[in-house]
Amino acid sequence: MAQAQRFRALLDLCKRRGFLFQSAEIHGGLRGAYDYGPLGVELKKNIAQSWWRRNVYFRDNVVGIDTSIVTPHNVLKASGHVDEFTDALVDCLLTKERFRPDKAPPINFKQDKGQSSGKISIISPDKETAKLWEQKIQNELAPGAVVTRQGKEVLLHVKEMTTTTYEPATNSPFLTDERPFNLMFKTFLDPIDPIDRVIKTTIENDTSDARTIRDQVDNVLRPSTVYLRPETAQGVFINFNQVMRTMKTKLPFGIAQMGKSFRNEIRLEHAIFRTPEFEQLELEYFTAPWESSAWFQYWQKDRLAWWLEHANNKADIRTRNHEADEMAHYAKGCMDVEYKFPWGWGEVEGVANRGNYDLTQHMKATGENFEVLEDKPIVSSHLKETALITSVPQEPTRFVPTVIESSCGLNRALLAFLCDAFQQVQEPGKESRTVLKLHPRFAPVKCAIMPLTGNAEFQPYVEKVARSLRRQGLYTVIEAQKLRIGKRYYRHDEIGTPFCITVDHQTLEDQTVTIRDRDTAEQHRIPITDVSSIINEKIWGDEAPELE
Ligand code: GAP
Repeated sequence: MAQAQRFRALLDLCKRRGFLFQSAEIHGGLRGAYDYGPLGVELKKNIAQSWWRRNVYFRDNVVGIDTSIVTPHNVLKASGHVDEFTDALVDCLLTKERFRPDKAPPINFKQDKGQSSGKISIISPDKETAKLWEQKIQNELAPGAVVTRQGKEVLLHVKEMTTTTYEPATNSPFLTDERPFNLMFKTFLDPIDPIDRVIKTTIENDTSDARTIRDQVDNVLRPSTVYLRPETAQGVFINFNQVMRTMKTKLPFGIAQMGKSFRNEIRLEHAIFRTPEFEQLELEYFTAPWESSAWFQYWQKDRLAWWLEHANNKADIRTRNHEADEMAHYAKGCMDVEYKFPWGWGEVEGVANRGNYDLTQHMKATGENFEVLEDKPIVSSHLKETALITSVPQEPTRFVPTVIESSCGLNRALLAFLCDAFQQVQEPGKESRTVLKLHPRFAPVKCAIMPLTGNAEFQPYVEKVARSLRRQGLYTVIEAQKLRIGKRYYRHDEIGTPFCITVDHQTLEDQTVTIRDRDTAEQHRIPITDVSSIINEKIWGDEAPELE
């Protein structure tokens, strides 16, 4: 099956089985907005929980925090986001679409045989639009140019096709110049509609200078301006001293946060891959400067290990170091974890060395002191990689800690693990069917319990097994529909349930049940009393292998 077709089949499964729905669908939907259905919620929660267990519960120097999404202007001004968190934007004057310059559609240039002249082909949605575009090109965009039309296709005749002819050197004619576009969602915390105040001020200060009007409007709005956070990290930085004080922590230590972030993305892509509202799993790890390179390397390895541990196809996960010109404004070094999606490699997580940029910026803006005093600077004992340690001071030292960050997109992780798990199985003489080979830790339903038939005597055993699993926090469903047992297994293979337990006639005699494994389809008889320990071991048994 072709990649695009597979991806469509996966999205269809997500909708049909309750993983993912288009948000506000009955009202026509909202582009880029998705709701997670009953199984999607479980999958997302399980991925987040695995991340939290691995990064908080398995360590004695990482704690959690949950900070406000609504963020004051001053925080994001200090962090550089108000001025620097931008993408370049171009508008297509013909279609009114907006693009990042590197994502503008390619020009289709049809060169005349043996000539440097030719035609740029612009396809419109319909004949009527093609007529309007033809007129617009002739009257406004390229007066005097020869333009012809064939149905929906508008053809712009050009003498020569060079990149300099159609500046900017993007891939589409009739694009505006690039301009920066801030990605943050701005809103106002104000009981009085701030727009009324803007109107009043603008009328009172009658001026035709657009820049002055903009400045005046910004000034009126400034006191009530807030943003939806574009990353969870800033909430961690501004609480650095609170956490140090309340938890009596010492370097190196980490603060983990999971939660929603928001970005007004110009281009929304590939279902939940790029959306305006998304969730991040972020860890800010504070280190002494002389250990920071070693910890940067440690976190790159550790995060890659987590991805590999939970994926079937290890070759579809890789890392990529950022070039100096693609790093965020705060970063001194960055490595992306990438997954090979059906449309190509895409970033799913970034591990960055943020230096002491953020803490220093907030110190400057507030006067708060984030310096740490090390009386006897040493190399921390739980750092195995010491080759990268830089000169350790010999006397008491005060410094602003260096931050190593890992930032994983939860929704992208969910999409990547779904793509990784989606398998179409073709057995001889049978219809092809889907098996979702999710890691048992991620699978929404851990276990389905099935009475072989409607025989009422099976019921107490079904309930007993369900109770034993539910007590362990394992999401367990009882499948008592009047479907053949094989059909019931297949329905659970399709949503990734790793284990099915069947209660049958033998159970009544010897208190045993069968346990079926999703991936091998093998079945074994086990005592009822062992079910929860066997399933727990299969799910968590090899969690978090020790890193060398
Ligand atoms: N605090 C660092 C930071 O935010 P980032 O590379 O901008 O770094 C981290 O974002 C991760 O968040 C990305 O690797 C990606 O998985 C996820 N992410 C970013 N923008 C996203 C969007 N618009 N939709 C879905 N996920 C997104």
